[in-house]
Amino acid sequence: MTVDAIDPETREVAELKDPPLAGGAVPVLGHGLKLARDPLAFMSQLRDHGEVVRLKLGPKTVYAVTAPALTGALALSPDYKIDGPVWESLEGLLGKQGVATANGPLHRRQRRTIQPAFRLAAIPAYGPIMEEEAHALTERWRPGVPVDATSESFRVAVRVAARCLLRGQYMDERAERLSTDLGAVFRGMYRRMVLPLGPLYRLPFPSNREFNRALADLHLLVDEIITERRASGQKPDDLLTALLEAKDDNGDPISEQEIHDQVVAILTPGSETIASTIMWLLQILADHPGHAEKVRAEVESVTGGAPVGFEHVRKLSHTNNVVVEALRLRPAVWILTRRALTDTALGAYRIPAGADIIYSPYAIQRDARSYARHLDFDPDRWLPERAEEVPKYAMAPFSIGNRKCPSDHFSMAQLSLIVAAISAKYRFRQVEDSDASTRVGITLRPHRLLVEPLEW
Ligand code: HEM
Repeated sequence: MTVDAIDPETREVAELKDPPLAGGAVPVLGHGLKLARDPLAFMSQLRDHGEVVRLKLGPKTVYAVTAPALTGALALSPDYKIDGPVWESLEGLLGKQGVATANGPLHRRQRRTIQPAFRLAAIPAYGPIMEEEAHALTERWRPGVPVDATSESFRVAVRVAARCLLRGQYMDERAERLSTDLGAVFRGMYRRMVLPLGPLYRLPFPSNREFNRALADLHLLVDEIITERRASGQKPDDLLTALLEAKDDNGDPISEQEIHDQVVAILTPGSETIASTIMWLLQILADHPGHAEKVRAEVESVTGGAPVGFEHVRKLSHTNNVVVEALRLRPAVWILTRRALTDTALGAYRIPAGADIIYSPYAIQRDARSYARHLDFDPDRWLPERAEEVPKYAMAPFSIGNRKCPSDHFSMAQLSLIVAAISAKYRFRQVEDSDASTRVGITLRPHRLLVEPLEW
């Protein structure tokens, strides 16, 4: 148990302080209204009040961490676990035994099971599927015919995750169903998170019916995938086989419920995050023709005009930097939460056991204290000589520590490949009805991005 702050350099023990209360709280609701009205602006100004600040959300006190170094300390400390109201509501819908919500020894065992499917050396085996899906997008799209970026991005994200990690031909048709279900489930989950109206969600409104139907079909689909794989007797080297063969700490097979919850826990974060990032990348290509042209030129110089393949990705350094810069300004996971397991400290501040803690990668990654011209889209800030200027932990869209996204390599490979494939064939323009303003949900994405592919 940490009771005092220890300076890592001098080893001096400083007395802990209570974090200051952030300004602007109003009676009864505290900061709740501001957070609900404009969460991104609210989170982005909190560092002006301190590196750790207290927020009042109704009767509840929540601690917000605003300085990069302290978000690093939080993510790396064993004194915190994944928990809080967001996780509790997700668990109720998606299952309690998945890796994204488990803690302690169960979480460690689950990470050991899934990690091999995501390690760097495993990614090239997914190359052919990623290539096929990236090129399929460019073939479906027609010059001058507007593309609904939301459904197209969701579709390719779900198809890549499902086909790579759960393998099998049947995935082509199932991926479509998964993508429709997950779209509806995410919409409903966000509504339930920001407006926790309990019993109202049990009433037979069309939106509740759509949500319930999609959630039930998602669980049914996952059961079908598992049953079919078992019946096939096949054991391809994939994540599903790893889950079906996994043993618990006593050496016994893990339960059916755990297998089910694990598949859900991998498909759900794996689709919305990638889909949102693809939407932002399309918006960037449409609104910054200079950057789009630079990506096209890089792809052409690396491929010599041949269709871009997985083997080209590591040479596409500028394209890769475009993806990284998109993840800086538009991190799909814009808010993270933890709960203190014990009385502890962050920097010089006292954190009591049981405290809910939040921080925002969005706010951290847009902070003028960490980045020159912090709001400019500037992929060259990730050139090796300039990247060194970025303070530690000021860029962590996949997080760090034991909860770090297992899929960082998998995600970067597919995002770079998709950007390369679509930019080689098309430039883009937003059409009149397009609305690229930010929609804050479980992830951040444009409200309704419509882009027109145009031939170069
Ligand atoms: C966890 C971001 C893509 C699976 C996380 C976390 C972040 C993140 C920030 C940590 C959450 C926390 O600390 O509380 C992203 C971003 C993505 C992406 C920005 C893409 C742009 C994916 C994909 C998959 C995936 C494609 C799977 C196919 C997971 C899982 C966890 C996770 C299973 C939970 C890990 C754990 O708790 O041990 N992701 N993710 N993510 N992500 Fe991703």
